Amino acid sequence: MDPKLLSRYQSSTGASAYRRKYERSWMRRLSNRRELAIVDRALERAGATGRILDCPCGAGRLTPTILQHAEHVVCADISEQMIEQAREALAPLALAGAVTFQVASAADLPMEDDTFDTAVCHRLIHHMADREERAAVFAEMARVASRRVVISFSDDSTWKGRSQRRRGVHRRRSALMPADMFAEAAAHGLRPMGAPLRLNGFHSLVAIAIFEVGVGVGRA
Ligand SMILES: C[S@@+](CC[C@H](N)C(=O)[O-])C[C@H]1O[C@@H](n2cnc3c(N)ncnc32)[C@H](O)[C@@H]1O
Repeated sequence: MDPKLLSRYQSSTGASAYRRKYERSWMRRLSNRRELAIVDRALERAGATGRILDCPCGAGRLTPTILQHAEHVVCADISEQMIEQAREALAPLALAGAVTFQVASAADLPMEDDTFDTAVCHRLIHHMADREERAAVFAEMARVASRRVVISFSDDSTWKGRSQRRRGVHRRRSALMPADMFAEAAAHGLRPMGAPLRLNGFHSLVAIAIFEVGVGVGRA
């Protein structure tokens, strides 16, 4: 991830701004609701259950949706400041014992192999322009999840992706064609369960891929 963006997430002001980002206007609230509905569908398709990892959790935006499919959610993020925001936002769930928190990198998770039924990695790898950086995340998600990995990416095959490419628009995000994303994931024993779910084909690049965790590289 771009160090400037990461340092924003790792500041108190940046983390608290991110927590409010999806509430700032009715448009944002609507697109947030749609996004959470797609995450919900992805977890439904995955048949997610039991213990689920939410990494990076950011300010805990996805956690209540994930919890609808889980007995317990571990919220992990590299930013202490984001974890603080998530702790505040999810305090009642934490008090009920449904959620715990951990400062950790998605590329080097402190959990044992197969700790979770499902690992969710939402809105991280599109910030990673470097294939090696993404590979470390795929490897860790595949290692800590026993059954499923749900991971979002910027889908370069969408209308918006094609349009931006045609116009030579400079993109801060690192977009991938689904076949390339699947090939990167396959190197870690991740097999796609159907086509990625798209946030909304026209305006967004966000897509969510659901993987079955197989036996292969990284899980020997
Ligand atoms: C765009 S936010 C997404 C947060 C959350 N998934 C959501 O959709 O609201 C990106 C998050 O990734 C975290 N992050 C960046 N690099 C990370 C890494 N290597 N491991 C774990 N978290 C990371 C940042 O601190 C930030 O909270």
